[in-house]
Amino acid sequence: MSGALVNPAIAQLGAHPFPRVAALLEGIEPPPGDTIDLTIGEPRVAPPDWLASRLAEHGSTLGSYPRNEGTAAFREAAAGWLERRFRLDPPIAPEAVMPSSGAREVLFQLGLLAAGPGLALMPTPHYAPYRAAARLTGLEAVYLPSAEEHGFLPDLDEVDRLGPETALFTVCSPTNPEGAVADPEYLARAVGLARRHGFILAVDECYSEIYRGRAPYGVLRVCAERAEPGADPYAQVLAVNSLSKRSSAPGLRVGFAAGDRRLVKSLIDLRAYAAGTVGCPNLAAAADLLGDESHVDRIRAFYRELFDAADTILGDLPGYRSPEAGMFLWLRVDDDEAAALECWESAGLRVVPGSYLGPEAHDGTAPAAGYVRVAMVHDLATTRLALERLAPILMKRGVAA
Ligand SMILES: Cc1ncc(COP(=O)(O)O)c(C=O)c1O
Repeated sequence: MSGALVNPAIAQLGAHPFPRVAALLEGIEPPPGDTIDLTIGEPRVAPPDWLASRLAEHGSTLGSYPRNEGTAAFREAAAGWLERRFRLDPPIAPEAVMPSSGAREVLFQLGLLAAGPGLALMPTPHYAPYRAAARLTGLEAVYLPSAEEHGFLPDLDEVDRLGPETALFTVCSPTNPEGAVADPEYLARAVGLARRHGFILAVDECYSEIYRGRAPYGVLRVCAERAEPGADPYAQVLAVNSLSKRSSAPGLRVGFAAGDRRLVKSLIDLRAYAAGTVGCPNLAAAADLLGDESHVDRIRAFYRELFDAADTILGDLPGYRSPEAGMFLWLRVDDDEAAALECWESAGLRVVPGSYLGPEAHDGTAPAAGYVRVAMVHDLATTRLALERLAPILMKRGVAA
């Protein structure tokens, strides 16, 4: 016996960014007046007002266990949405979709799904559950730098080099925190590498609907466009999406994985032992959300207004970049912790130092250091106020690309 009661890998995951921000700012007084929390990317724009009543209408289903694969109605709604949104031809079958309790849960389960031992490649910075998916399941996490010169995405030459030892490659598009979007060529090459080397490619597309210009491409579309007769067009690929951002309904806890039917079947089998299932009222309400785009247009317009305000207020300052998608500004600064401290001390703004969002990369670089992340989730008036307070700090500390 080792004497340890708790799996030490949990502590080794590293502190979550938000407690680290709290520790950084502890004991430091902000200036008098309102403080504004720009750390958490929690949607604050309301979901559709009919959502609560739809949940209640389905309350009678609470007396039975939900099935591992979810309801047929939800899987059909998600497959239909994917087909319409990403113009999937051939369409994706409902059986190739699995609901999960938010995207976070399935992003972790990917580590249990992939055949180890092997490498789990992921960008840095990244959404922390990618790292947990590797480190708590015996895969070896490899953090690939998502540097600005590579469009804030991992360099696929490096993925090709590591491919023979790789079990899982998780990538995000649109990216959190940078708001960059992978183009179809990038996604197509990633799919090709997965198939050549025999690993699973998972694309976290949770921010796919929060865009400003053109709707981002999705990995399933890339697969469908390259479909070959007789073969599963989505082989070795999973797209992960969620109702949290698209419908501003993070409390619903509905996400889903879709793609390779064999992988989806194994994820469902795994749920019988190692995951909760999603409640039927939630799945019914989520199916209704997926059938409606008008609330998504409203939510997208809400974020667009916030980013337009950022373009106006910060647009000419060093370190500013207008993101294509997502809910964050990713501002390049001279020193990320010092900038976060100054935001708090001189402007009453809580922001996240970039280095808290991603460990050092495998090549020794630290692509997230030297940035701060600013969540663009408040109403327009609050966001404007925050941006105006941020402007002099960026003027002083911003670093042009
Ligand atoms: C990149 C990314 N992926 C996935 C998620 C998880 O979303 P949820 O579990 O609410 O569906 C988040 C949430 O912040 C995220 O930022």
